[in-house]
Amino acid sequence: MRLADKLSIRYGYVTSLLAYMVDGPPRPFSATFAVTNRCNLRCGYCNCPFIDPAHLGLPRIAVLFRRLRQMGVRRLGLAGGEPMMRPDLDDVLRLAKDLGFWVSLNSNLTLYDRHPGRLARADLVYTSLDGDPAAHVAARGEGAHDGVLAAVTDLVRAGTPVIAICVVTEHSVDQVEFLLRQAEAIGFRMHFQPQCVDTDIVRGTPPPVANECLRACWRALAAAKAAGRPIASSRPYLEYLAGWDDFAVSAYHDPAVRCPAGHGYLYVDPQGRAWACAYTKGKMTPVDLLAHDWRTAWNRETPCSVCSVGPMLEFNLLFRRPVAAALEGLRAYG
Ligand SMILES: C[S@@+](CC[C@H](N)C(=O)[O-])C[C@H]1O[C@@H](n2cnc3c(N)ncnc32)[C@H](O)[C@@H]1O
Ligand code: SF4
Ligand code: SF4
Repeated sequence: MRLADKLSIRYGYVTSLLAYMVDGPPRPFSATFAVTNRCNLRCGYCNCPFIDPAHLGLPRIAVLFRRLRQMGVRRLGLAGGEPMMRPDLDDVLRLAKDLGFWVSLNSNLTLYDRHPGRLARADLVYTSLDGDPAAHVAARGEGAHDGVLAAVTDLVRAGTPVIAICVVTEHSVDQVEFLLRQAEAIGFRMHFQPQCVDTDIVRGTPPPVANECLRACWRALAAAKAAGRPIASSRPYLEYLAGWDDFAVSAYHDPAVRCPAGHGYLYVDPQGRAWACAYTKGKMTPVDLLAHDWRTAWNRETPCSVCSVGPMLEFNLLFRRPVAAALEGLRAYG
């Protein structure tokens, strides 16, 4: 990461953290924008391809990005659905980079060989790998592994950092060693996240794996991280999940706990509506960012305050353990 981006993100984070600590108007430093819900795959745990296929065109995305920037957002994640389904993805990335965002992009990479240029401007690419080809296909469907490793290799050779996300399910729980060896051989890092259940953007039932077996997997990941294996997930995150009680529950409300979602980061759906985080989609009233300002329009409430939801949990630890977790988490994810 360029020094200028590092400083900009750290400044945004500290500003965000201070606003959160004094319970002032929210000042998110990070946003995820789902550029589309459309997708060429039908993974067993994901609902995106089955929800509203409408998405904003470039001129409205330009308005949205300017609003996010004015709000203090420095770090922008472009996600989906599958972003590579958009022929204008390169223009979306150009808009984001021209406004000075540090930009990560999530893609299943199965369409990469047809349009490698569409990802050229991303600062970091997240992809998905749930194990060896058989395990990956069992979790994500026929064709889901095609071209992924070639694309990762190509990106790594071109100097784009890659992090592959593994959703921990019955298909992947015994695939950790395989995935880490593959990451070491090709030169990328792995992030692991629990299978999230019970909200609009996911589907399926909790993995039929005993909680103790899942906790053992998270403990093994924490040990592998300590041993220097290529795991992007932070140590506090892995240790937190090694103590999660019941993986059939992704989130709950504890009145004694505040959640940093909406304060430190937010999620914008393909229609331009903002939610505190992706998991809250359908569980709270969103804010239309093309018409309103999140800082004043959001009621500062979240439907839950404790969760095991992968991407958000890392951010939550940044706000709840700002000294130890922040340094490690910011280093790992930019
Ligand atoms: C929604 S996808 C979008 C990007 C791209 N289509 C992909 O699959 O990489 C982002 C990430 O969320 C993960 N994901 C999808 N459903 C999930 C669930 N129920 N629980 C946890 N992670 C999930 C996917 O495996 C993927 O790594
Ligand atoms: S996880 Fe990604 S690739 Fe799979 S259906 Fe969802 S959006 Fe598509
Ligand atoms: S606890 Fe916070 S970050 Fe987690 S799902 Fe609920 S609102 Fe989102």
